[in-house]
Amino acid sequence: MPYKKSFASDNNAPVHDKIMEALIKANRDDVIAYGNDPYTDECSKIFKKIFRYDVESFLVYNGTGANVSAVTNLLKPFQAVICTETAHMNNDECGAPEKFAGCKLLTVPTTDGKLKAEQLKKFLHSKGFEHHVQPKIVSITQATELGTIYSVKEIRNIVKFAHNNDLYVHVDGARIANAVAAIGPLNKLITETGVDVVSFGGTKNGMMFGEAVVFVNKALAQNYKYIRKQSMQLASKMRYISAQYTALLSNELWINNAHHANNMAKLMADKLEDISEINITQPVQTNAVFATVPKEIIKPLQEKFFFYIWNHANNEVRWMTSFNTDEKDIKLFIDEIKKQLARLLK
Ligand SMILES: Cc1ncc(COP(=O)(O)O)c(C=O)c1O
Repeated sequence: MPYKKSFASDNNAPVHDKIMEALIKANRDDVIAYGNDPYTDECSKIFKKIFRYDVESFLVYNGTGANVSAVTNLLKPFQAVICTETAHMNNDECGAPEKFAGCKLLTVPTTDGKLKAEQLKKFLHSKGFEHHVQPKIVSITQATELGTIYSVKEIRNIVKFAHNNDLYVHVDGARIANAVAAIGPLNKLITETGVDVVSFGGTKNGMMFGEAVVFVNKALAQNYKYIRKQSMQLASKMRYISAQYTALLSNELWINNAHHANNMAKLMADKLEDISEINITQPVQTNAVFATVPKEIIKPLQEKFFFYIWNHANNEVRWMTSFNTDEKDIKLFIDEIKKQLARLLK
């Protein structure tokens, strides 16, 4: 199969060499299963270090599992999660929150993927009314599904509103590294804003597999280990997730990888600015570029590069970069766009 560079998703990137080395290093001797091993101990210490707080971390297989088990842990059967319409939980988890957490998702429309504290008010009138599902969690995605980021102030406002109204705050941090690399640090963005629990991503940033559920509000972690097992997210060979996280979170690899991915998206966006037929539709704050493009060039471009159409109605595409994107990839891509446009406009 001829090689095609992918701008479809950071999930399409390979595993970072340092992660592969860590996997190989961990692949020796017997250790106790299910996380009672030295690799997982070390990993839990490194999570405390990067959060600058005594957080409690649990490793799971994937991001959907992290999100669904995190909210399951906090909900009673009659309670609901408030999230954006574009949230991964709402759009890309095949109804797993509804099926496994058994909860309703109360969605809010946004133009930039970010929920605003003011949008939460309207859900309060349901509180205490037995005919209405009871909101209990506000889930925000950082960085968002549209590549945008919440500022510390925006998160603080959401947390303040949520906590004043007896709601927890969950962060889907599948791309938390990209947000931290852009506006960091993690302790200011998450620990000190009062977020309760985070799905902390690794796979999109160089790992092979595995995500983490990190409780800043440790009181909420009490029963999570049972929920993780019931949610089928307890890995017997946990060391292979722990060793990856320890490598990722050591020596700033997670920040450096995300920084690089963000810079490559910025480079792409800068080059696209000069092309009048292409309009960037979202602020490029992390590693995604959203743009509307002439319909006719999409297919020919897809023959050379992998990417998806985000919105067929207006020919909007999503181009994502990763730690594995380099300047040459961007140049080849931009050259191909120009070539296709020249052909079209001839
Ligand atoms: C915002 C967000 N959350 C969570 C996930 C986790 O998904 P998965 O279950 O594929 O690991 C993704 C993956 O694309 C994502 O983009």
